[in-house]
Parts: sequence; C-alpha cells; structure tokens
Amino acid sequence: MTAQRDIDLKAYIRHIPDFPKPGILFYDISTLMRNPDAWQMAMGRLARQVAPFKPDILAAVESRGFLTAAPLADRLGCGMLMLRKKGKLPGRTVSHTYELEYGSDTLEIQEDAVSPGQRVVIMDDLLATGGTLSASAALLRKAGAEVVGASVLVELTGLGGRAKMDGIPITTLLSYE
Ligand code: PRP
Ligand code: MG
Repeated sequence: MTAQRDIDLKAYIRHIPDFPKPGILFYDISTLMRNPDAWQMAMGRLARQVAPFKPDILAAVESRGFLTAAPLADRLGCGMLMLRKKGKLPGRTVSHTYELEYGSDTLEIQEDAVSPGQRVVIMDDLLATGGTLSASAALLRKAGAEVVGASVLVELTGLGGRAKMDGIPITTLLSYE
C-alpha cells in the first residue's frame, strides 16, 4: 500500500500526437490500464471522488466511459447503465443528437434505464470540449434522471468543457492545461 501511494498516475498516460487527426494530441489511457498497480490505484482514487455523490446508478458513456464505470459500480455497490451510440440498444430508447466540430452525433439510453428519484453520476474517461458530457447530461435529463455529478479520469482544462456542464459538479483525477 505504501508503494502504491507514491504512484504518479500521469506517468502512465501516453500522449500520442496527431491522432485521430493532425493537430490533435491524444491522451491514451491504455498505458494506465495495462499496469495493474497504477490502474488499481486510479480506480481507488476515482471511487473516493465519486462516493460523495452517493450515486444509485452510474451512467457510462460509450465507449471509454464503460472502462471506468464498471469497476466503480462494483466498488461502490451501485448499478450502471449505458449511454450508447445510435442503434446499439434494444427496446424502447430515448435519444439526443448533438453538434460536433464537423457534423453531429447521437447518444441513446433505454427508456426505462432510470427511475424517478435515482441519483445518477455520468462516467467518462476524458473531458475535452465538453460536447460528449453535456450531451450525456441532456439525454439523461430527457429520460427523467437526476444528474448529481460527473466523473472523468482526464480533464483538458484549456478547452473549457466544464463551462458547458450547466453547474453539474465534475470530479477529475488528472488535469492538463
Ligand atoms: C472521446 C472521449 C470522450 C470524448 C471527449 O470519445 O472518450 O468521450 O471524446 O471529448 P469532448 O469533451 O470534446 O466531447 P470518442 O468520441 O473519441 O469515442 P470513444 O470513447 O468511443 O473512443
Ligand atoms: Mg468517449
């Protein structure tokens, strides 16, 4: 445990230039996930950040949000649900279309995924422009959820994504300018 406390998690995030497009610096969490001690420490810290929201259910944003939501739901003893890209969820769904830099994208949730009064926390790996997280919050609210918080592993603070979150508190494990 003592050794684990000293792990510098930023050292495990790999930076890959020009991915997925020229000029974009990609923050790769694969290298964090590959190291069992670092990943376990990251999930422990994330759990301590998310627990105070007292979530009943974690809303995992496809696809990399699935990676943090599943271990956290297990650690916190709460449920989880998936916010998926269009056409992936069976049964009746609610959808929300949002604008990207070029074009638009649609996220969906199963209509019966949340019950009135449930406290929902949104989980994703990264907050950049905030487009994904704010669309996730809008979709959850459309489905009747009470969004009490959001959690990311990595926040790129220079892109101003937090300002799009309409006052929803966000916890961040690792921040970069
Ligand atoms: C990435 C990342 C976040 C989002 C952050 O997902 O996993 O979900 O972008 O960017 P934003 O704050 O500017 O919206 P991506 O859409 O690349 O898909 P993936 O998770 O399926 O890899
Ligand atoms: Mg994503």
